[in-house]
Amino acid sequence: MANAEKIIILDFGGQYNQLIARRVREAGVYCEILNYAAPVESWRDDALRGVILTGGPNSVYAEGAPRVGKELFDLGVPVLGICYGMQLINYLFGGAVASAEVGEYGHTELTCADVPLFRDVRRHTVVFMNHNDRVSVAPAGFAPIASTEHCPIAAFADESRRVYGVQFHPEVRHTVEGTQMLRNFVFDICGCRGGYRAEDAIDRMVAELRDRVGGGRVVAGLSGGVDSSVACALAGRALGPDQLTCVFVDHGLLRKDEAKQVMATYRDHLGLNVVHVDASERFLEALRGVTEPERKRKIIGELFVRVFEEEARRTGADFLLQGTIYPDRIESGMGGSATIKSHHNVGGLPKDSLFTKDHILEPLSLLFKDEVRAVGEGLGIPHDMVWRQPFPGPGLAVRIIGEITREKLDILRACDAVYLEELANAGLSGRIWQSFAVLTGVRTVGCMGDDRTYGYCVGLRAVTSDDAMTVEAAEIPYPVLKKCAARIIGEVPGVNRVVYDITDKPPGTIEWE
Ligand code: XMP
Repeated sequence: MANAEKIIILDFGGQYNQLIARRVREAGVYCEILNYAAPVESWRDDALRGVILTGGPNSVYAEGAPRVGKELFDLGVPVLGICYGMQLINYLFGGAVASAEVGEYGHTELTCADVPLFRDVRRHTVVFMNHNDRVSVAPAGFAPIASTEHCPIAAFADESRRVYGVQFHPEVRHTVEGTQMLRNFVFDICGCRGGYRAEDAIDRMVAELRDRVGGGRVVAGLSGGVDSSVACALAGRALGPDQLTCVFVDHGLLRKDEAKQVMATYRDHLGLNVVHVDASERFLEALRGVTEPERKRKIIGELFVRVFEEEARRTGADFLLQGTIYPDRIESGMGGSATIKSHHNVGGLPKDSLFTKDHILEPLSLLFKDEVRAVGEGLGIPHDMVWRQPFPGPGLAVRIIGEITREKLDILRACDAVYLEELANAGLSGRIWQSFAVLTGVRTVGCMGDDRTYGYCVGLRAVTSDDAMTVEAAEIPYPVLKKCAARIIGEVPGVNRVVYDITDKPPGTIEWE
């Protein structure tokens, strides 16, 4: 059974596009983000209830600006344009535009009319603006429905065609009543009923996997993280142990005791057929002398595939199963957005790989992290495992700046273990999305006892988040940080300075690379 209703989000490359999808799914409505150029025939079906056009970095008037054809508005479903999306609607329907004398950025007071899009929204509310161009004369048939001090047409609507545009970003939290506006669009205007829950799709995902694999065999990459655990558990439900071999690759970039813990958990709790491949020598050899972060990722990504290929040959497998989730795909530039970094599992297969696109199974590739966790709980995976902190596929390689050596890995593992132990002692682990130590690659002068030292500076990071897309640096109590610093410097030779990272995302990222 497919989803009974869906919203399509056409991606014009804006920074907050994933958030639009998050908000719609949080409202219990299934949605997908597609590149703006995806042909309408590939996504139009009976479940379609509405279309959202996202923001984007371009000016709609620039040559080569991403655009859609006007036939989109003949599909018979409501359309909402956000920021660039509104400008595009304005352009297509012949409205006028002006370059604002004053660009608007950040919190802005909005005055809105009593119309369906703003039902249960206060007439004066705060929204998040991020634009230069503004609509100066709305196209024929469109009425202005909201304004700000510098933007007299901050939203417009053509109720007869059910086409809407908002210049601000309802999807970001700074737009205080943005969630209500999006709910108004999907429920009142598009007529969605809601009730979508990722875990309800388990049976369907299991059936789809069985269908695709048939009598074939599968090797599955198992990293110990939440995503691959859930993907493997799902595959374990769909396929018997003779069809499914889970491969845990120890790339030598794991945390202290991680390999032992992961293997024990899988065998004891999930009853999966797991093979442990110690490939640490090969990975470290391949990474020798490499300092550039994207190259590290590419090397690791390729070696992972090689190890999986070897296992596939050994077991006679035809398919490779991966725990790729929705944000991995989007952040790797598979929508229209800029590529920030290549996640190893979507970085692209080497050209000569045994596995072609048709041999890759990614059962979670349309789910957000919290949805993956809900599916994990639904599959009966132990709570602690489902709520484990995310750990990146390339492991400590993205937490050591500069060349990776065994010595640096040992130092980082020791610092990380002390830090995590102290956070747990302080009862803080539960509230934190991710916490870890980083070897900054910087060496500084210190003095211990009567001696001069020249040691590494270690960074500590802890963030809170709902979904890793936006995060805040966690406010770890100062005495806890002091204790961590004292213990790390006292217990880990080679380290003489500890700093705490207070950068949010954006503008930072979680990992340092
Ligand atoms: P950033 O650093 O982009 O990280 O804010 C967002 C989340 O993704 C994790 N991460 C990865 N996970 N493979 C993964 O499976 C990767 O290549 C990768 N890179 C980053 C990161 O730990 C955080 O949870």
